[in-house]
Parts: sequence; C-alpha cells; structure tokens
Amino acid sequence: MNKTYLIDTHTHINMIEGLPETEILKEAEANNVKKIVVPASCAGDIDKVYELSQKYENIYCYLGIHPSEAKDWNDVIENKIKTLAQSSAKVAGIGEIGLDYYWDKSFVDLQKEVFIKQIELANELNLPMNIHDRDAHKDTFDILKAYNKNSKVIMHCFSGSPEFAVECLKEGWYIALGGVVTFKNAKKMKDVAEVVPLERLLIETDAPYLTPVPHRGEENQPAYVKFVAEEISRLKAVTFEEVALATTQNAQNILGI
Ligand code: NI
Repeated sequence: MNKTYLIDTHTHINMIEGLPETEILKEAEANNVKKIVVPASCAGDIDKVYELSQKYENIYCYLGIHPSEAKDWNDVIENKIKTLAQSSAKVAGIGEIGLDYYWDKSFVDLQKEVFIKQIELANELNLPMNIHDRDAHKDTFDILKAYNKNSKVIMHCFSGSPEFAVECLKEGWYIALGGVVTFKNAKKMKDVAEVVPLERLLIETDAPYLTPVPHRGEENQPAYVKFVAEEISRLKAVTFEEVALATTQNAQNILGI
C-alpha cells in the first residue's frame, strides 16, 4: 500500500496560543499531516480563516457561524460567505454550523433558524457542511434530515452513541473523530470508532481543544491527529496506513481538497 499523508479536517489554528502558524505547519509536516482545514466560529473569524487559506498552500477553510455565536448572523455575513466561497476553491465547506445546547440554551430558536439558513446556503453553493452538535443530537438530526438537499454532511467531533452513529450513517453522513477517542475512559467513542466503517470516517484535532493522549493537558495542534489515527487503527484492528489512506481519501472526495 502506498504511503499516504493525514488530513486534520477541523482545527482552529487561529486559536493556538503557544505556537506561531509557521511552527504549527512545520510540526504538522514533520508528522505527515499535509493538509488542514480551519473552521470559522464567529463573524470575526471569517476573514481570518479565509486569509489563512490564501496564505498557505496546505490550509483550507470552512466558513460559517457556530451555534453559540448565532447572534452574529446577518445578511452582510451571509453575502460575505457567499462571495468568498465562490471566489476560492480553498473554501472547503460551510462550518462550523449546528446546535449547541451545552453552553447556552437561552436562544435555541435563533440557533435553529441560523442553522437552517446555513444549510440552505451550503445547498445553494453545493458545498459540504461541517456540523457542530453538542448535547443536541435529536434536533441536529431532525433539522439536517428535513432541510438538507444536496450537501455532504460531516458530523464533526462526533459525541453521540454508536446507535446514533448508525442513524447518521444511514443518512449517508460522515463521522469525524478527534482526541476524545484516545481518552482512557471514553468507552462510548471507542465503540463508535468500531461501528463506523473506514469509508465513512474522518479524523480531526479540534485544536487547541481536546488534546489526545499522550499529550493531554498540553495545547492541541494538527500534528497530533496522528494519535487519533493510531487509536482508531488499534480499535478497528487495521493498520495505521489503512486508517490514513481511507480517512485522507474521504476528506479529499468530500471536500475536494
Ligand atoms: Ni471546532
């Protein structure tokens, strides 16, 4: 089998404090992580992550508004995302978008409204979606099922049960796993890794958060996505190369990168 590289499909390198961009990319390269996708969260991120994607060959971006920042959504932002997405193939999708009932449940209706608008935008642009679902599995699922027409769906930092993963797979969606799968006590995520076939798996770090074992307690970075791939290969009893090849091909096919 050919030696392949890894892709970190969700990493906020603009939020990493301990390393400059050039060092982050050097570390990634040294660990065979050759492409990374940086999602926007708030309105202020849109220009930042887009500029990163224009500045560095290996960086791609998702443009969108995180559910916790739903108040940022307006016509100006929508038009800006549309214009940037149409002007560069480095915009790999719409994200991160979805629902978050963990941090603040005081504006759930607004979260849903903004989620639906961004699903429609992804459909219009024919771009994939990078989905944030925290403590909101049922509503996230129902809204995606009802409103998504033609966009590929990636469930980023999947945190549901193996049964929920199976429901998502039935819809044709993809499951992205990060550092949590390496945590000793994360039995549920280890079960999810076993259930999801390689053809439907992606890997990510969600840096600077959720640092995998053996670096827990340190700031996360794209290079550490290799620990996610290693743990998945152990859980699925396949080689590291098989995990690398499948997850990289999936990311290339879905994101066109
Ligand atoms: Ni994120």
